[in-house]
Amino acid sequence: MKKILVTGGLGFIGSHTVVELQSEGYDVIIIDDLSNSSVDVIEGIKAITGKLPIFEKLDLKEKASVERFFQKHSDISGVIHFAASKAVGESIENPLLYYENNLNTLIYMLKEVLNLSASNFIFSSSCTVYGQADEMPITENAPIKPAESPYGNTKQIGEEIIKDTCKVNDNLNAIALRYFNPIGAHPSTKIGELPIGVPQNLVPFITQTAAGLRECLSVFGNDYTTPDGTCIRDYIHVVDLAKAHVVALERLLNDNNQSNFETFNVGTGVGSSVLEVIRSFENVSGQSLNYKIAPRREGDVVKAYANTKKANTILGWEAKSSLDDAMLSAWKWEKNIRNIED
Ligand code: WQD
Repeated sequence: MKKILVTGGLGFIGSHTVVELQSEGYDVIIIDDLSNSSVDVIEGIKAITGKLPIFEKLDLKEKASVERFFQKHSDISGVIHFAASKAVGESIENPLLYYENNLNTLIYMLKEVLNLSASNFIFSSSCTVYGQADEMPITENAPIKPAESPYGNTKQIGEEIIKDTCKVNDNLNAIALRYFNPIGAHPSTKIGELPIGVPQNLVPFITQTAAGLRECLSVFGNDYTTPDGTCIRDYIHVVDLAKAHVVALERLLNDNNQSNFETFNVGTGVGSSVLEVIRSFENVSGQSLNYKIAPRREGDVVKAYANTKKANTILGWEAKSSLDDAMLSAWKWEKNIRNIED
């Protein structure tokens, strides 16, 4: 069966995508530098699929190591490139770390992918490329605005690097998937989101508060121009997002792409406010959540939710899980890793 390389494959979205790839019969190789993931995730993947992916610990910033890897594995049919730093706040504090880790690695990867007999490349992009879009829901041809953070900038520049490379290399076929807000965990509770330290993102902070690890959730502002004053996002179940990667990869493997660089929004098309997410959690968990209204967070956009028509009609993919499904899976995962009984 075809061999697929997944960089950052022990991370949150990467590990769920490895499970979906293996379930479709692909042989998977994972590269991960373990800077924001644990090698234990491999056991979680095997517990779900019964197959142990090949894993190589590798720092993609080391050009020579990347070259050596591809010399060893020249029979790769496709690459899904997740490996990158992704904390918006950290990127503002340490921009050079983000430009080096997210862009140098992309360039080294692309140089090697170009030499493969099948140069199929799926890029982990983000709705952050849109900044605060003027119109909701956001379509793929919404104007790309100046990024709100170095992290968002690395996604914008990353897409440009790939697009320019595709222009002069017909053999390179690439798709950039622009994620909205991935949440939840695999229904088996064998893999899920493992934020290191204090969670930056809403849903893991909610489940850690409910599990007693955090005192209280701060809702960053309730004076925005939205129905309940809190920010609106498009929260997509991570398994739906993982499945989108397999569909996009197979579009390239089967030569169904209409051009050699395509972009797709990957979201549910539904916008949910912070308070609606809290209510969803309370509904599915049967627990009330301890939260307070706090000042706005720097850099937050007010609204971001996807127009998913392109992915639905051209990719033939759509999100299946609701916000409640995703919140329940996130809570089950949290209870599992904290050994909290039902
Ligand atoms: C969501 C909402 C916060 C924490 C993330 C990733 C980014 C990109 C898109 C992949 C906002 C509010 C949060 C808290 C809160 N993903 N919030 N209290 O900022 O939309 O971006 O998804 O590329 O990389 O960071 O997600 O979960 O941080 O915030 O009130 O303790 O929840 O203000 O309105 P965000 P988030």
